[in-house]
Amino acid sequence: MIYLITMIAALTGFLFGFDEGIMSGALTQIQKDFGINDKQTGFMMGLFPFGAFLTACVAGRLSDLIGRVKVLFLIPLVFSLSILMIVFSSTFSILCIARFLLGVSIGMSVVVSPLYIAETAPAEIRGKLGTYFQLAIAIGILCSDIINLSTNTEHLSWRTMFGIELIPSGLLFIGVFFLPESPRWLCIRKRDHEASVSLCKILGIGAHSARLEKEIALIEHSIQRENKKSVWKDLFSKKIRPCLSLGIFLFFFQQLSGINVIIYYAPIIFKNMHLGSSLGSLLATVGVGVVNVAMTFAAMQWVEKMGRRHLLLIGFVGTAAVLFTVAITTYLNDPSLHWLSATCIFIYIAFFAISLGPLPWVMMPEIFPQKVRGQGSSFSAASNWAINTAVVASFPIMQQSMGISATFAVYGIACLIGFFWAMRYIPETRNLSLEQIETHVYSGRPLRELGMRKKSNM
Ligand code: BGC
Repeated sequence: MIYLITMIAALTGFLFGFDEGIMSGALTQIQKDFGINDKQTGFMMGLFPFGAFLTACVAGRLSDLIGRVKVLFLIPLVFSLSILMIVFSSTFSILCIARFLLGVSIGMSVVVSPLYIAETAPAEIRGKLGTYFQLAIAIGILCSDIINLSTNTEHLSWRTMFGIELIPSGLLFIGVFFLPESPRWLCIRKRDHEASVSLCKILGIGAHSARLEKEIALIEHSIQRENKKSVWKDLFSKKIRPCLSLGIFLFFFQQLSGINVIIYYAPIIFKNMHLGSSLGSLLATVGVGVVNVAMTFAAMQWVEKMGRRHLLLIGFVGTAAVLFTVAITTYLNDPSLHWLSATCIFIYIAFFAISLGPLPWVMMPEIFPQKVRGQGSSFSAASNWAINTAVVASFPIMQQSMGISATFAVYGIACLIGFFWAMRYIPETRNLSLEQIETHVYSGRPLRELGMRKKSNM
């Protein structure tokens, strides 16, 4: 049951990835139909991350107030409404409002889905289940790449391309009806009986089982220990600040690794690497999507076996090494090295998909204590959008002013710094319950010691 619950909650990730990809495929047609210039295009494109950023800032708190599942319920509603507005849009203004609303729904999803998954998952497989969200993003991107490829040959209209998004959104809407509320959220609301029912459903255990008693006791214990400070005061308190900076920096480095430059500009990058026709570069883009999905599957297995910390360190070293190699091969600009540059892009994606991709989503909701989990996740996920926008918007400028090699080198340096940062600050949360993590955080011991020394930390 827990796997099904996670898959439904992770569907929001699919919407995120799918829309990200579809927009880039539909853009040229939209520009033509509405007769909009580059400035207007930039404005419209910016409304999506802007809406996502604003909503991500408050989505966690909203889910604290009304419950995780109610927010999950809102996501397909807002998403479908905006898709319908796009499909039937007759003016540029309607299109702009719809893009903003789409951002709103995605802003909710990037906070609440990982949060909900972490709060419902059993400790031993929480990392694996948390990776489902990233997997759904990757599958969404891949599906949109395939659709973009088919528009190249069959010419699908951009309205149809967006209309397809109603299918996953509808599935999510139906699926949410079957989701039990997070037992942790219910316990905080003193709805103990509902919390027990929810836990039984999630874990597939009986109402009188010893495991149920143990789980409820753990949650109750952490709630009783809660201080009387407001969420805001607590979030910025000395003990929680390291969690907040960890959440924000995880996304900071994820985005500074240049991932979305590859995802958004892949066809252009491959074309510059002389990968034949534009169809050839589109095919290579689909290849990137396939590697992304396949390696996220691998991450699912490794995240529990190797642990978050090791995987992240490997990811930082791998992406840095590959980015430096691309910087050198593109600098040399030797035709015999074009294949190497292109291969490096695939290897880069593989390293990203096993580490920098899923781990921020897995760790973001894990590291915050229950009381500030919503707001802490909100700020972390919001930073993703802010940095994403900055990196993607600055790429064309950097490429023109410094050249592609230096641009890749900058992302490589960011990954290298990320490695040293991770060495110093990343704890290990594998196999620890959320309550054990919370106990450590409130103990005031350095966050990085979490999970490092067996038992003594708990
Ligand atoms: C990132 C997205 C990125 C995607 C690629 C996610 O973890 O947050 O910005 O597009 O991975 O798979």
